[in-house]
Amino acid sequence: MPPAHVTSVATFYKSFSLAPRGRHICTVCMGTACHVRGGATVLEHFERKLGLRAGQTSPDREVTLERVNCLGACALAPLAVIDGRYHGQMNESKADKVLQPILRAGGPAPDAGSGPEDGEAL
Ligand code: FES
Repeated sequence: MPPAHVTSVATFYKSFSLAPRGRHICTVCMGTACHVRGGATVLEHFERKLGLRAGQTSPDREVTLERVNCLGACALAPLAVIDGRYHGQMNESKADKVLQPILRAGGPAPDAGSGPEDGEAL
């Protein structure tokens, strides 16, 4: 099989990655529905809390932050997926709560804010 064919498949599907990904995968949707309902603010908050930009993996390979353009659950917008679990109507306080176990395990990012401040249900 020609290497170009392998590369084309590996770069086409989001399930494959040419770079190592983190143990935890955080995905924030930036599709139209999520964007108009505050997806950009959610993504910025994830970036700030994790100390990563969208598309980056932490140096210790604990966390990868990804941005996607619709997860097919627009009614839940804005939407984030943490390790395969969907979290709808995402906002900053919910993000703090869902990121808490990840940040606790790997420690907060150097420029991350303080820990979660409320116990809001998902
Ligand atoms: S736009 Fe986010 S799930 Fe569709």
